[in-house]
This record gives sequence, structure tokens and C-alpha cells, in this order.
Amino acid sequence: MKQVRLIYSSAVTRDMSLQDLRSILDRARSNNSELNICGMLCYENRYFLQVLEGERASVTELFIEIADDPRHDDIELIAFDYIDKPLFDNWKMGYAGGSPIFHKLLDKLQMEAFEPGRLTPRQALAFLHHLSNHQSEI
Ligand SMILES: Cc1cc2nc3c(=O)[nH]c(=O)nc-3n(C[C@H](O)[C@H](O)[C@H](O)COP(=O)(O)O)c2cc1C
Repeated sequence: MKQVRLIYSSAVTRDMSLQDLRSILDRARSNNSELNICGMLCYENRYFLQVLEGERASVTELFIEIADDPRHDDIELIAFDYIDKPLFDNWKMGYAGGSPIFHKLLDKLQMEAFEPGRLTPRQALAFLHHLSNHQSEI
């Protein structure tokens, strides 16, 4: 079965509370593990950056469902690649909230504020991977 990695960015349509983020994450944790999809969601500065990894058909279907969610819009596909094995082996939420590691990563990219739509595919993947290793979950 073909495994893929999909990365996209989007902008929130309204402010997200911690509770809102938790409910998205709870849903992702239970649904995605059933679908054998792993990945990570990052939220900061009214933007989302998400990576989804899994079987091609499941990832495609889930992405279409997520893209239809009224809580965000301006969806931009950053990357869609075939992979041999997943980099993100469980489901995480990298919540920025001004953490030092987050700002260090932004500095490295010479970005003052988090604008994931400006990241190249390689930068977006490195950013998410770094965060997944260093960020505590919410
Ligand atoms: C930024 C963002 C990321 C999301 N990621 C996931 C996800 O990875 N897995 C999932 O099952 N739902 C995810 N959701 C939630 C689904 O879009 C939504 O809950 C799902 O379509 C079900 O809708 P319903 O609650 O109206 O039934 C995400 C939503 C947003 C706004």
C-alpha cells in the first residue's frame, strides 16, 4: 500500500481557544488512529500547519474532510509525497503559545511571525519534525 505525507497550511476563521484546539486534537487522535494516520498539528498566529501521514486513500479522504471544516480556510497544499515510512509515529499537537523552541525555529527561518504559507515543503517538514521532538503536547 502506498504511504504518503501531506502538509498544508490554513488560516483560522475565528479565534481558537485552548478548548477548541483540544477538541480538534481529541477528534484527530481517535479518528486518525482508526485510519492508521499519524501526524502533527501546529497552531500559532491564527494559522494552522498540519502534516498527515498514512495510506494514500485515507490521507486524501481525511484531507478533503478537514479542508471542508468551517473553522479554517485559505487552505494551501504545501507538500504531497510518497514515503517509505512515517516520520511522525503518533498524533501530536504542537501548540506554539510563545514557547522558546518555537521562536528559535522562527528565528532560524528569519520569520518574525509564524506564516506557514511562506514555508517551502522542506522547511515545513523540518519545522514540524523539530517541534514534534521538542514540544510538549496539549
Ligand atoms: C485545522 C484542523 C485540523 C483537523 N485535523 C483533523 C484530523 O487530523 N483528523 C480528524 O479526524 N479531524 C480533524 N479535524 C476535524 C475535522 O475537520 C472535523 O471534526 C470532521 O470533519 C468532523 O466534523 P464533525 O465534527 O462536524 O462531524 C481538524 C479540523 C481542523 C480545523
